Amino acid sequence: MRTPLVAGNWKMNTTISGAVALAGEVAAGVEHMAAVDVAVYPPFVALQSVARALHGTRTSVGAQNMHFEESGAFTGEVSPNMLDGVVASVILGHSERRHIFGEPDELVARKVRSAFDHGLTPVFCVGEQLAERESGRTEEVVGRQVGFVVDQISPAEAARMIIAYEPVWAIGTGVNATPDQAEDACAFIRDLIDGSFGQEAAGRARVLYGGSVNTGNWDDITRRENVDGALVGGASLDAPDFVRLVEITRDALPAD
Ligand code: PGA
Repeated sequence: MRTPLVAGNWKMNTTISGAVALAGEVAAGVEHMAAVDVAVYPPFVALQSVARALHGTRTSVGAQNMHFEESGAFTGEVSPNMLDGVVASVILGHSERRHIFGEPDELVARKVRSAFDHGLTPVFCVGEQLAERESGRTEEVVGRQVGFVVDQISPAEAARMIIAYEPVWAIGTGVNATPDQAEDACAFIRDLIDGSFGQEAAGRARVLYGGSVNTGNWDDITRRENVDGALVGGASLDAPDFVRLVEITRDALPAD
């Protein structure tokens, strides 16, 4: 059984003090829900303060992006070395990085390689745009995005990786993928991992769904077999809603 992960991507929201307060509320709310992993991804400037505030809790903190180089003339960028000791994971290839800031597949794959090289767990994001889905190209696009990363990693790394399927048309739009669409894409991604690295890696890698997840639509999506949790944007900025998403995830787990 894979432990589900509910991850909150705060994007360019909160202040340092607001982030610490939000993180504290989340951590207190989810402390007793041990069956679900929980992580928050505040803006860079708040990482250290949030990491300190979350120390000793079961909520972990991650970064929203990073450069692949350790140092150098890259104005405005943050390196894996700078994240060392502060975060355990890093979101890479988020659709806003790909589509607003023009990050190509090759760059995202280098970042994933670098994250593993520096002991960070990548939360590697993939997903198609609306026109791509409407023209029946979802698997082609997601397959290409995953393909670039598969070339860079080992089976053991694939098993540790977190992949977030986030259809671009569902992010921040209020239009979520249906449970079937989410399940089909997550299963497709797991098949890709299986094809490249075998069953053990495919059985261990966690595949999340992201895109307009909220407390009203999550129950039906989280119950699907290949969905191992959520990457949540908007709803992660409201502590009670985010805690509720963790609770829904826990309550949907099969009783053992
Ligand atoms: P959303 O964002 O939940 O606001 O749609 C998801 C994401 O971008 O990770």
